[in-house]
Amino acid sequence: MFKEKTISFTYREYEHPEELNAEDQELIMSAKAAAKMAYAPYSKFMVGAAIRLESGRIVHGSNVENAAFPSGICAERTAIAGAVSNYPDDKPVALAIAAITEGGLPAESVSPCGNCRQVIAEEEGRTGRQIRIILSGKERIRIIDGIGPLLPLQFGRDSLRINRP
Ligand code: THU
Repeated sequence: MFKEKTISFTYREYEHPEELNAEDQELIMSAKAAAKMAYAPYSKFMVGAAIRLESGRIVHGSNVENAAFPSGICAERTAIAGAVSNYPDDKPVALAIAAITEGGLPAESVSPCGNCRQVIAEEEGRTGRQIRIILSGKERIRIIDGIGPLLPLQFGRDSLRINRP
């Protein structure tokens, strides 16, 4: 007999950035500033990601596209690669994401793509710390405590160990 199981999750939704604490507001501003520096001539969808490290330092990244499309990289992975390679011992605690399209800041927040979710999960596994995800749109800000809910039943370092013969 099978058992039907449900996975649900809770996140917080805000209508105005002013409702957030000063640190999170600053992180969103950094993500928006990073979005302006994106190199996205093909999609014209400019994304910025800003990571707050344990020390308080902010590392940002933006999407960098390529004429050979799969060679492009998302803002979240650019930011994580920057943080890990420059400050490997300073653990990420929060990640804000913002986008700018041809119409300006989208009303809805932008969620990380599947590849980026996997990379965020790896970073949580590497550091042993949850990363608070802050999705920032013009009309809504969503905060999710850790990548877990955005990547349920995830494949990670533990899966490799379990599946090894
Ligand atoms: N993109 C990001 O940088 N982050 C996301 O979360 C979603 C998508 C980029 C990839 C590509 O350069 C452009 O947005 C359109 O997909």
